[in-house]
Amino acid sequence: MPERQLHLGYMHWLNGTHWGGWRHPDAPTARAFELEYATKALRIVEDAKFDFFFLGDTLPGDIVGEQWITTHNTGRLEPFTLASQLALNSSRIGLVVTAHPTFYEPYILARLTASLDHLSGGRLAWNVVLGASDLAARNFSLPDLGGADRYGRADEFIDVVQRLWDSVEVGAYLQDKRSGRYLDDTKVHRLEWEGRHFQVAGTLPLERPPQGHVPLLYAGASELSRELTAKWADINFTGPATPEESIAFNTDVRRRAERLRGRTDPLFFLPGITPLVADTRAEAVELYEELNALLPFDDDLVEGDQDEAFWSGPEWAGISSGRGGLPRGVRSVRSLSERLGVDLRPLGIDGVVKPDTAERFDAYGRRLLAALGERTGRSVDGGSVRVRDLLGAATAGNFPLVIGTAGQVADTLIDWFERGAAEGFNVSTPYLWEPLERFAGEVVPLLQERGVYRADYTSSTFRGHFGLDVPAGRFAATASEGRSA
Ligand SMILES: Cc1cc2nc3c(=O)[nH]c(=O)nc-3n(C[C@H](O)[C@H](O)[C@H](O)COP(=O)(O)O)c2cc1C
Repeated sequence: MPERQLHLGYMHWLNGTHWGGWRHPDAPTARAFELEYATKALRIVEDAKFDFFFLGDTLPGDIVGEQWITTHNTGRLEPFTLASQLALNSSRIGLVVTAHPTFYEPYILARLTASLDHLSGGRLAWNVVLGASDLAARNFSLPDLGGADRYGRADEFIDVVQRLWDSVEVGAYLQDKRSGRYLDDTKVHRLEWEGRHFQVAGTLPLERPPQGHVPLLYAGASELSRELTAKWADINFTGPATPEESIAFNTDVRRRAERLRGRTDPLFFLPGITPLVADTRAEAVELYEELNALLPFDDDLVEGDQDEAFWSGPEWAGISSGRGGLPRGVRSVRSLSERLGVDLRPLGIDGVVKPDTAERFDAYGRRLLAALGERTGRSVDGGSVRVRDLLGAATAGNFPLVIGTAGQVADTLIDWFERGAAEGFNVSTPYLWEPLERFAGEVVPLLQERGVYRADYTSSTFRGHFGLDVPAGRFAATASEGRSA
């Protein structure tokens, strides 16, 4: 078996990542607030020996608006509470909780993560996020998320959290009945942190977590995100569109890590992907198009539901420049035309896009055509791209879909892995449950047969699955010199 093995995470989205997925006849009606729903997914992926079960978390500002797109945000249990239940219902798989530094104090986050790392036997990781809307910030007495300043706050936040994890060394709890010494106070290190954002003077009331430092995940590709990943993260799961883009991104972040960490710690890149598996490629494409037909579009499919003034206003400017799928209210040929720079309304929803029309598309339109071609094989030159296909691709969400037979999906993953474009993948599915069951039951065995994926767990900690050492505590060397602060 080759030494280098790929890693798999499962991103648990309530209804999957296709915005029409929840309406598929086989999709379950999501029971967001019942433990059984998440544990069903947990069982599937732990049986398939996944490295981790990933709980994303975006605090919404407006669940009424979000119901048309990010349905998972409209029904979410608090991630630490859910993860502690998932820990009880599993034994080997890693568990990733998501927490936004802007909405916590480092002390609270350090205590939550250290506690859950203890209770799960070293299976926890923390996904550091800085996204979500400014509206969400208003739930926290804040006018907004703080713009670019939130990256600086996150940087100091992580530093303080790691210091807190180190603050009580392993072995500090003596409980020596004979001598009457409960704590070895040489192993307890008070922080006297006076930073720009935080002032923290204490220690945690618990021993260093089993993993020393709970591993960190991060997604994001801007300059500031690259620096944050390079300085702190163990895993990045941003979703570049091609292996070439991925290699360029990974190389850049690793170079930064050398500068910022002073050493080349292992850094894992696990792009997010959404596989869609069927018996034949044609059936997989058919399923994708079936899902697109389930997208809730505007009532007036061609002209859209907005008045003329909307298209020159700030709301549309914001949506148009964003990278996400189109929200309800702008799911029409009109919005598509606005976005790709050519008026497609005269063609109607079933019109075929001709080469001379496609030539006038802007960069967004060209990317959409490329994604459509990869997903479905439809091409302008082949005369098979209808306006409906472009609208579906623009609305479905911009998740990197891998569509095909189990063999084709496995080949794509292995290709990325072997070319050094990825160390593995953070997998989500377009809807539940069948696409998840098929990935776990058909693609994973092929990866195992090809020798690139574990047949069984060899570890029961998050770090162990990735071969990451437990880092030495910053106070361990000075312990004999007594209490440091
Ligand atoms: C694949 C992916 C998943 C993300 N998941 C979340 C999330 O669950 N919650 C959240 O607040 N932000 C999430 N984000 C946003 C990131 O935390 C981060 O704020 C954003 O990507 C920063 O982007 P930039 O620095 O590249 O502009 C996610 C980003 C990506 C790329």
